[in-house]
Amino acid sequence: MDISTVGIVGAGQMGNGIAHVFALSGYQVLLNDISQDGLEKAVATIRKNLDRQVSREKISQDEMDATMGRITTTLALEDLGQCDLVIEAATEREEIKDAIFEKLQPHLKPTTILTSNTSSISITRLASRTDRPEKFMGFHFMNPVPVMQLVELIRGIATDEETYQTLLKVVESLGKVAASAEDFPGFIVNRILIPMINEAVYTLYEGVGSVTSIDQSLKLGANQPMGPLELADFIGLDTCLAIMNVLYDGLADTKYRPCPLLTKYVEAGWLGRKSKRGFYDYRGETPVPTR
Ligand SMILES: NC(=O)c1ccc[n+]([C@@H]2O[C@H](COP(=O)([O-])OP(=O)(O)OC[C@H]3O[C@@H](n4cnc5c(N)ncnc54)[C@H](O)[C@@H]3O)[C@@H](O)[C@H]2O)c1
Repeated sequence: MDISTVGIVGAGQMGNGIAHVFALSGYQVLLNDISQDGLEKAVATIRKNLDRQVSREKISQDEMDATMGRITTTLALEDLGQCDLVIEAATEREEIKDAIFEKLQPHLKPTTILTSNTSSISITRLASRTDRPEKFMGFHFMNPVPVMQLVELIRGIATDEETYQTLLKVVESLGKVAASAEDFPGFIVNRILIPMINEAVYTLYEGVGSVTSIDQSLKLGANQPMGPLELADFIGLDTCLAIMNVLYDGLADTKYRPCPLLTKYVEAGWLGRKSKRGFYDYRGETPVPTR
């Protein structure tokens, strides 16, 4: 199936990045949010990020102008009904996602492929509540979308081969690489990455190493570009904790129990970079370890 128009629901950090890469690759993009302010901020962010690509000579000014010209915003979800592909990238709450699909459904073409960018919610369960589980897939972009190469493709139990093959081609057309994952908690990236971060927090909690020695060990000893605690602050400690809880509940194995120190940071509101404090304090010129 040919895809030329893409509807994106949710214009937050993921939605704006997804709109950016699709428009840059020539797709017509219709971006929806419940907040006009959110839509305006998203367009401003896309413009700023494209500008940076122009100044680094990754794209030309003409390409940037054409990209911006392919993005339209709307507060009316039903406007996305005529799109060939819809990517839901709204807040990570199952009832919000279910309500979006329910409201959108009566307006959709029979051929429209529905997808969710969820990091943790079961694709099979989301799909089962729509009128098209065979045309429903997990479409998991990584943050920041314009930079990260990988996209996880997650088939629900009912997803048909044509839908999967169509999305494989779409990923290729974006210049990105697809990894196929089965629909189990955390898919692939978060199933491996977040327990590693959780283990780094246990290593800190048990006093095996300090923040600096843990991050340095993984950077210099395992060739990781960022230390696990630095990375946790980048992702957001609340997000890391939420994903650990999904793994713990969904896989029913104590090896996924969240570290009490991670919980304590989240309870303190020390969520990482976004709240200016996490395993590092970002309020000064350079980040300072908080333990
Ligand atoms: N942040 C990440 O690193 C990351 C990575 C991969 C996937 N995800 C997933 O992407 C999704 C979005 O995450 P985010 O980080 O962009 O969140 P965000 O909070 O930055 O953005 C969410 C947006 O959804 C909008 N929204 C809420 N309800 C809506 C509705 N009913 N209709 C339309 N818009 C609505 C909000 O106004 C907000 O602009 C989540 O499912 C998340 O799990 C996030």
